[in-house]
Amino acid sequence: MRTVTVIVGAKWGDEGKGKVASSEAKDADIVIRGTGGANAGHTVIYQGKKLALHLIPGGITYPQTIAILGPGMVIDPKILLDEIQMLKDAGVPDIDSRLKISGRAHLIFPYHKDLDELHERMKSNPVGTTKRGIGPSYADKANRTGIRMYDLLHKKNDLRTKIKEATKLHNQAFRKNGMKDCVAKPKSLTDLYHSYGKLLSSMITNIDPILREALEENKKIVVEGAQAFRLDLDHGDYKMVTSSNPSTSGTLCGCALPPTAVKEVIGIDKAYNSRVGNGVFPTEQPASIDENGCVIPGAEPLVGDVIRESGYEYGTTTKRPRRCGWMDCPILVSGKSIMGYTSLCINHLDTLGKIGLTLGYVKVCVAYQYQNETIDYFPDDVDLTKEVPQPIYETIDGGWIIPPGITSFDELPESAKKFISIVENTTQIPVKFIGIGPENDDLIIRDVN
Ligand code: GDP
Ligand code: IMO
Ligand code: MG
Repeated sequence: MRTVTVIVGAKWGDEGKGKVASSEAKDADIVIRGTGGANAGHTVIYQGKKLALHLIPGGITYPQTIAILGPGMVIDPKILLDEIQMLKDAGVPDIDSRLKISGRAHLIFPYHKDLDELHERMKSNPVGTTKRGIGPSYADKANRTGIRMYDLLHKKNDLRTKIKEATKLHNQAFRKNGMKDCVAKPKSLTDLYHSYGKLLSSMITNIDPILREALEENKKIVVEGAQAFRLDLDHGDYKMVTSSNPSTSGTLCGCALPPTAVKEVIGIDKAYNSRVGNGVFPTEQPASIDENGCVIPGAEPLVGDVIRESGYEYGTTTKRPRRCGWMDCPILVSGKSIMGYTSLCINHLDTLGKIGLTLGYVKVCVAYQYQNETIDYFPDDVDLTKEVPQPIYETIDGGWIIPPGITSFDELPESAKKFISIVENTTQIPVKFIGIGPENDDLIIRDVN
């Protein structure tokens, strides 16, 4: 039986994956993440309180679940320990026995964050990374000098040897670039990471037998994707991408789960779109933010500001104001083959209604004008042509207010229904879930099969 539900981001992240994955986890046995690390920021609401999770899947708040950090992740143990404490303080029960960390997952060290900073500084066109050391840690992994969670369980001397080897080249780079303070000191790093290992040792394990048994017993597994389609290292807007493969197949690989176990792939999107960091964003709207992404105080509000403030679009991880724009359907069309969506979830339909009430209209991009042609997908060569695809919009007049307590599509205001039908007709992907608020239950679930 196919029992795996995969939640993946359909655009550039922050679409509300944490909320939907948590909602799906209500009756799940296993919740798992497989890519990225603390570059992710997933908001879940637990007993009325907002929790910002960076590493642990949100479904851990349901006490019957086993929560797994998969082998494809890059883990900062300090952030993980803080997150475990935060969940315990919030009253989430039995974390120590329910959280499992793949021993094959790679570690993030302070030198990875310093390298992240250095790489960005050296680029003429920086990516705008989260500076969490993600790229450098994955680069060490690919270079076969990475250090894994398992290494925290072994002899201290062995860990020290590995850190010494891993940092040889990095230290040269720090010295050459006047970053003497960043030169890694293997002894003190070994002491620190060994102490993290002691605190995490009971949770570090081989996750394969847990997943094998769950699959054999037809248990429900919810995969909480991180990042999103357009941030995928191979399929996104290279070079303005992350350093892992958050597409569906990459996420499954990072979770050590087989594609044959997948029951559904839910592409998570928002009724408007946002992006943090640099890179092409065809439907982006002008906003009063400076070149560092900081809001200019007192500046006249523009359409991008209205969208950002209506949805409170500030990074969960970095607090950076997010770039904002209209819903982009061609990107969903491009994701049909690569991501294999069986359905979509469109969050923030409530917010789009408010935006419409403020502006007097909302827009949906249904195609692009690109290289003198009309196309319905995201082109592959924008980095070469330097041409930003020009959106072709459909406009809906006015906005809407979602009546409180509604549970069905039929109860939505007519303009809100019209918006959903434009997305469905343009993409030919069923919209099964509609987000009308931040809580797990603020989801309309439609029978689209
Ligand atoms: P993720 O990274 O994809 O998990 O998304 P984030 O947590 O970074 O950002 C999504 C934000 O939107 C969070 O603040 C959520 O609480 C909020 N949110 C999610 N769905 C909805 C929705 O349908 N309506 C509203 N108003 N807020 C939502
Ligand atoms: P969630 O899971 C939004 C973006 C960064 C930057 C690029 C590379 O919360 O949706 P990195 O630090 O990964 O090397 O940065 O990717 N990015 C995200 N943007 N949400 C995320 O995660 C992101 N994870 C990475 O802003 O542009
Ligand atoms: Mg996020």
